[in-house]
Formats: sequence, C-alpha cells, structure tokens
Amino acid sequence: MDRNAPPVAGPRVMTAAVQVEGLVKRFGERRVVDGVDLTIPEGTVLGLLGPNGAGKTTTVRMLSTLIRPDGGRARIGRYDLVKQANQVRRLIGLTGQYASVDEGISGRENLYMIARLLDLPRKRAWARVDELLEQFDLVEAASRPAGKYSGGMRRRLDLAASMVGDPAVLYLDEPTTGLDPRSRNNLWDSVRALVDEGTTVLLTTQYMEEAEALADSVVVMDQGRVIASGTSSELRARVGGQVLRVRTAGQEHLDQLARRLTAMRARNFRVDAENSLVSVPIVNESELTEVIHMLAASRLPISGVDTHLPSLDEVFLTLTDKPHRPADPDATVVLRRVF
Ligand SMILES: Nc1ncnc2c1ncn2[C@@H]1O[C@H](COP(=O)(O)OP(=O)(O)O)[C@@H](O)[C@H]1O
Ligand SMILES: [Mg+2]
Repeated sequence: MDRNAPPVAGPRVMTAAVQVEGLVKRFGERRVVDGVDLTIPEGTVLGLLGPNGAGKTTTVRMLSTLIRPDGGRARIGRYDLVKQANQVRRLIGLTGQYASVDEGISGRENLYMIARLLDLPRKRAWARVDELLEQFDLVEAASRPAGKYSGGMRRRLDLAASMVGDPAVLYLDEPTTGLDPRSRNNLWDSVRALVDEGTTVLLTTQYMEEAEALADSVVVMDQGRVIASGTSSELRARVGGQVLRVRTAGQEHLDQLARRLTAMRARNFRVDAENSLVSVPIVNESELTEVIHMLAASRLPISGVDTHLPSLDEVFLTLTDKPHRPADPDATVVLRRVF
C-alpha cells in the first residue's frame, strides 16, 4: 500500500498497523498496565500472552477507545488513539472474552441489527449478513435464537458481529477460552481467513498453543509489564524448546545412555534412575535428529521415546521466576490437555 496516498473513505485503504508506546492505566494506586510497547505490522497477528490479571483486557479496552489511557501513546492506522478516537473506532472491531450477542433473537437478526447500527442501508445490510453467515459457517443456524447456540457457534457469531463493519484492525480478547478443541480449531480457521484477507489482529490468550497457531509474533505480559517478546518459537527456545524423553529397558542401560549424551555434548539432560528415564532438552530440530541417530547407532534397548513442548507453566516459570496459576479451574484443565 502507498503510505503517502491521501486518505480515502473506507477502512481498508488506511495503514492498518498498531503502534503503542509506554501505555499506562492506573486503577487507584495500581498501575495495571505499566508502560506497554507493542507494534503490529499491517496484516499480521500479534499474540498478547499472559496469565489472568496480567493487564491484557485493560490494554485491549484502551486500544478500543473504551477506556482512556493514563499515559503513553498509540496510533491505530494513521490515527492517534486519544485525539482521533472517532476515526479509530471506524477502523477497529472487538470480540470480547464473553460473547455479547442478544440471546433472544436469531444469529441473522443479531448481525442485521449491528449492520443497521453501522448505518448500512437495508439491502446492503442483508447482503453483508448473508456473506458473514456463510463465512463463519452459520448458515444452518442462522434462524435459531442465539441463546440456543453451542459455545463454538456463539464465538463465531461474536466474531462475525465484530466483522460487520469490515474493520482493518480486529481485537480478539481470549476468543477461545472455554471452547472444546474442535470449536477452537474452527475459530482459528476463521481468524486465519480474515488475516489472509488483510485484517490486522491483536489476540489475547492464556494459551501458548493458540499464540503458536495464529500469531506472527508474541508479547508476554505479567503484572502490567511486557516481560518477553518474539516469535513463539523464539520464546519456546528460551525455555529450552522441546524435551525428548527416552526410557531404557532397564536401569543398567542408563549409564551408557548418559555417557553417549555427554560424548555428543547434549546439555542439561536429566537422568531419572527410578523410572529408567532420561530427559534431554532440545533447542532445535537438528539436535533432535542427532540424538535419534545416536540412539539408533547405540543399539541400546529402548522401551519408549516421546517429546513434549514446555508447558505455559514452564514458560512463565522461566520468564517470571514464578509459576503461572490460572484462576479459572477449567483453564487449568485445558492447559494440561493442550500441553
Ligand atoms: N475497572 C477496574 N477497576 C479496578 N481494577 C481493575 C479494573 N479492571 C481491571 N482491573 C484489575 O486490573 C488487573 C488486570 O486486569 P485485566 O486487564 O482484566 O487482566 P487480564 O485480561 O490479563 O486477565 C487485574 O488485577 C484486575 O483486577
Ligand atoms: Mg482478560
């Protein structure tokens, strides 16, 4: 896009990037968001990752013009978040943590109502509604009351609702919290399709896996501050990448295995004699290949091999020196299942 072109009506032609510097929000004496910097290049997804209470929603609410920052500045597209809040509102869409649809009316009526609120003439409003129902796989459910939708359908309807005005920048605040894995995957596909069409996305999540699936870059927040940023694989690498576990057929082979790992200069591996298990941190794929080759060449009797990714708990432990504790017990279950 020609960044020097004069502004033209309609959101798509604007420079849809988000640039945030030193953003602050205080509630009473507490700085709940304490100097946050973010950059989202146009057409990319930024994952804002952090435990409950980190300040993610507060950040999103400021960037949506719902609450006023106490410090710092931000530009959304060409516009200043505070001084040009009206123009900013026309550029953005927001899907909250909890679906905010009217349960008493159908999905189709919900979308139509929003289209009319956005001043679309009747005919164009209906056309846009049909397009969105199709896009978010809601055609069959369109006439049923939204209150009868499953969790996944509700989130898709909410996402469709935030897309009625064709926003250039979309904020998704924990869009899949509480969804089953299949609905989560469906929602991820919808988000990917929006990004393919050029939408810029700020996604908050408590799940490393979600950031990994969708985000081009990740910012980790804790207690109002940015504590790490990079691609998800860079963050994983900082906590040791994957872990390869090898179980030998009997304790007597553990020493040999440990000697061979030392000989190939594997770092920080741990031997668990009781379970005949050796855990080897793997930082990149070539290390994984080397260890597997060594195992094959060694002819040691092996009874099991697996790899696991570091959990979000381990990421937070490493980055913040304290364990990550989701307040929501269901969230813990999801974390255990995912990681
Ligand atoms: N309106 C408010 N008044 C006072 N404290 C608030 C308000 N909104 C959020 N907080 C507090 O700010 C902190 C960050 O909250 P939030 O931004 O919702 O975090 P997250 O979305 O990362 O879970 C929490 O400790 C929360 O209790
Ligand atoms: Mg939140």
